[in-house]
Amino acid sequence: MDKANVKQMIRNEIVSSLLKTQKFLIVGNWKMNQTKHEVMSFLDAIVDYDFGNKNKLVIVPSNPYLYLFEDKLRYSKILYGVQNVFPKNEGAFTGELSIQMTKDFGCKYAILGHSERRTLFNECDEFVSKKVRMCVQNQIIPILCIGENLEDRKNGNYKKFLTNQIKEGLSRISGEELKEVVIAYEPIWEIGTGETELPDQVEEINMFLRKFIIKEYGNDKGKNITLTYGGSVKPSNVGELALAQDVSGFLIGGASLESKTFKDISDILNGN
Ligand code: PGA
Repeated sequence: MDKANVKQMIRNEIVSSLLKTQKFLIVGNWKMNQTKHEVMSFLDAIVDYDFGNKNKLVIVPSNPYLYLFEDKLRYSKILYGVQNVFPKNEGAFTGELSIQMTKDFGCKYAILGHSERRTLFNECDEFVSKKVRMCVQNQIIPILCIGENLEDRKNGNYKKFLTNQIKEGLSRISGEELKEVVIAYEPIWEIGTGETELPDQVEEINMFLRKFIIKEYGNDKGKNITLTYGGSVKPSNVGELALAQDVSGFLIGGASLESKTFKDISDILNGN
């Protein structure tokens, strides 16, 4: 065996033992995908699978299929959530989903302020912050999405842009409530493109974001907040990305749609 192989073997061992201990949040964002039949096959394929006890798994399907999740995952450790909520309790809001409706179906998480909602449906930070408040008040964990576009990344304004999104998004909750929130960093130019930043770049930005949260809200609150990364995460890159400092989970779109890749990602993040 040559030295390069030995080095690679040692590295794989170290990576695997690291992944065996670190806890990750794995969130599958299905967006507007899957048919009823596909959802049922996916759930059948995962319901008895051994995902281990270390990581937390969450799937976020389209709303009409939540009843299948409630039914099939009743005794499972896999949690589920919604891709959006409306920040009012009830009323004449055609096409919207209330927090009570999400609770009725046993949802535990809500993705809020995803870049697709911000760009396609003009959701602003102010509106997103009301949704964050609504979720925290109702024991639904908000996954607050932030992310810069390519132009901001290139012109160097992205750090200011991201910290602003965090500050505004969290403006309606107290420091105490911060532990109930997940921050999901997703550079817009990587979502669904197959492109991902290098693990070093991911590390740099996530460390920066955590440092900012610590400065803003104090060490106790900031150091424990769940900070996930997303944008074309898949089995072939998740292991390397997981090694990045200050990445405590992943928001995964395309690669979470197939039960096989979803299981593969879970296995990798269990160090298997
Ligand atoms: P992707 O989507 O993994 O398909 O890039 C991620 C997301 O938008 O949450």
